[in-house]
Amino acid sequence: MTIWNLGSINADLVYAVPHLPGPGETLAATSMTRGMGGKGANMSVAAARAGAQVMHIGALGADGAWARDRLQDYGVDTSHIATLDHPMGHAVIAVDRKGENSILLFPGANVEIAQSTVRDALAQAVPGDTVLIQNETNNQAFCAETGSKLGLRVAYAAAPFDAQAVASVLPCLDFLILNEVEAEQLFAATGKRPADLDVTDVIVTLGARGCSWFDNANHSQRDFAALKVTPVDTTGAGDTFTGYVLAGLDAGLSMQEAIAQATRAGALMVTRAGAADVIPTLSEVRAAPF
Ligand code: RIB
Repeated sequence: MTIWNLGSINADLVYAVPHLPGPGETLAATSMTRGMGGKGANMSVAAARAGAQVMHIGALGADGAWARDRLQDYGVDTSHIATLDHPMGHAVIAVDRKGENSILLFPGANVEIAQSTVRDALAQAVPGDTVLIQNETNNQAFCAETGSKLGLRVAYAAAPFDAQAVASVLPCLDFLILNEVEAEQLFAATGKRPADLDVTDVIVTLGARGCSWFDNANHSQRDFAALKVTPVDTTGAGDTFTGYVLAGLDAGLSMQEAIAQATRAGALMVTRAGAADVIPTLSEVRAAPF
């Protein structure tokens, strides 16, 4: 089957810093690199590296030809990525010595995607395919509604979190992934805990404590431990986990198997500096020494 991913594509400008800058602080970086990122692109690359067929739906500016080439090199189909008269998105990312980050986003072309781009792409999807959405593009609700009507598995990664954005797609979702702070924010906005949502599968990520899967069809919860690694850069680790879970499900793994494989991929990812460019392949994940 195919994963159709309506997602952002960014140039990530990554600055290594001694600590994350505070309000009003001027801070010198010790190095700077440019790579490919965007939560959408990271998830597309992760799913492709996990072995899935991935069609990315999105937009770049004329300045983004390099990112299109790179996605193709990484095994992602780019035929539904429009080139628009807007600059491509970018992210300014500070990474401290513990691997924690703070991210400033310029959305650019990511929020100028035409409905027709989404519609034309999904017209080629078939029931059983997955459509994946995050909160860094426009037209999320349209994409979720179209996917739902077509009988696709509709998956949403609620990042960056915005309760209104989640609410706009919630009635269409089969799969939702968010972290524990976001789960609290969603509870504050909707009065619903993950187990109360009308969404078949909800994963709440718990950072160094692993994740919980709410199997709402069977009214059960399963907890998964994290793997212990020394972080270098946490950027894109959550995106890698999400892409790997969905690719695993698409390949016919059970949720437990998909989460186990994705946990290994996410753990390996935090030992690497960068985002889409360093997402591990399935063989690297299988060979990882943990
Ligand atoms: O989740 C990490 C990503 O967030 C980065 O690659 C950056 O581009 C932002 O979208």
